[in-house]
Amino acid sequence: MAEVCVLGLGYVGLPTASVLATAGFQVLGVDVNPKVVEQLNSGKTLLKETGLATLVSAAHKSGNLVAAVKPEASDTFIICVPTPVTPDHGVDLRAVEAAARAIAAVVKPGNLVILESTSPVGTTRNVVGRILSEHGLAPGQDVHLCYCPERVLPGNTIAELINNDRIIGGFTRESAEHAQEIYARFSQGNVALTDDLTAEMSKLMENTFRDVNIALANSFARIAEDAGVNVWEAIQLANRHPRVQILSPGPGVGGHCIPVDPWFFVQAFPKHTELLKKAREVNDTQAERMLDRLAATGDLPAGSKLALLGAAYKANIDDPRESPALRMAHAATARGFRVSVHDPHVEPATWEGVPIGAELGACLKDAAAAVLLTEHTAYRALSGRVFAEAMQGRLILDTRNWLNHASLRLSGFKVLVLGRPA
Ligand SMILES: NC(=O)c1ccc[n+]([C@@H]2O[C@H](COP(=O)([O-])OP(=O)(O)OC[C@H]3O[C@@H](n4cnc5c(N)ncnc54)[C@H](O)[C@@H]3O)[C@@H](O)[C@H]2O)c1
Repeated sequence: MAEVCVLGLGYVGLPTASVLATAGFQVLGVDVNPKVVEQLNSGKTLLKETGLATLVSAAHKSGNLVAAVKPEASDTFIICVPTPVTPDHGVDLRAVEAAARAIAAVVKPGNLVILESTSPVGTTRNVVGRILSEHGLAPGQDVHLCYCPERVLPGNTIAELINNDRIIGGFTRESAEHAQEIYARFSQGNVALTDDLTAEMSKLMENTFRDVNIALANSFARIAEDAGVNVWEAIQLANRHPRVQILSPGPGVGGHCIPVDPWFFVQAFPKHTELLKKAREVNDTQAERMLDRLAATGDLPAGSKLALLGAAYKANIDDPRESPALRMAHAATARGFRVSVHDPHVEPATWEGVPIGAELGACLKDAAAAVLLTEHTAYRALSGRVFAEAMQGRLILDTRNWLNHASLRLSGFKVLVLGRPA
């Protein structure tokens, strides 16, 4: 019998299951995707994350980690399944409900159930707790129930899983203390115990804080472009104030967290979330604004090719989900442009209807303009010649203030930078 059963073996669940296994727990990893289960049972993963392949292999070799498509009896259940929003920004809790129903069939009195998925306030008790109650297991009486959010930074997940401070929100204090014992086996960060509602709210506040502050930086960038100011310099100067820390502007936000989680607040509390909704709108309209700016140069003929560099939503990671590149690709296609997307880290495939390739030359070939969207290290040193040799046009938009502008200009490019006047 497993000691810990982890449901959802993605960017959060797989590292968690592996770390628990290498800490000595007997772990059953559960995923509805049979390919993920098959991979894990041969000690492998398709996810690209620093150190993850080695960790998964070590966990597999230890004999402490096996995978299956269905949960089995266990002492502790940890739910790490996706919690996306629907296209109209509604909350989609189907995976959490399915995972809770799957474990409700095998949970026994005295077990601990932990929800780690980022969720609207009240999900732990009103969704997971309710499903357990329907199976005759009252949270706080028959089973322990907790919400424990994850704060990992993609690209540094394993180190952060171990070292970050943790919030453990118990439906009861006893539940929180029980969960603390599990995390204490691998976590080296400080632990704060609270209730499930506060833990859920604080996780959503963290990502909403990021979204609103990025929208603020993007608003400053828009103002700077009209005011004839270099926003990057202005931000650097403003941040010399001891109590000011303005974030960097950019092409929008991506991933499964920052563009998603504020909607959980907006959906549930429409009266108090005008600011949050506006921030979402600012970040989500950056792509259209960038296209407007390119079009205004007159150097982007109708139907011409646009090369987008950086499909991942963050520097040096392989995850293109909900990324500004995908949003911009859709927006450019809708305007009749041909689009080619490159990323040195993302597995070449079609993502959300957009093909992403790993050949820079093929992406730039015959393009009228190129847009830098992600500040991957690999793009930093690219010379103007690399662009000039492949592209037809001489127009570049750098949304991260990241490229070698002097070299590009030497090669004859018109260089636009987000947050800087033309
Ligand atoms: N990725 C991050 O950096 C990060 C950070 C903090 C919090 N989170 C949150 O953690 C949760 C999981 O995110 P992720 O990035 O690991 O997602 P993911 O998409 O990488 O992985 C989720 C996995 O769950 C599986 N799954 C779906 N429904 C299932 C079910 N009913 N039972 C078992 N498995 C199921 C999927 O097949 C997939 O393999 C989300 O709520 C997310 O917001 C993610």
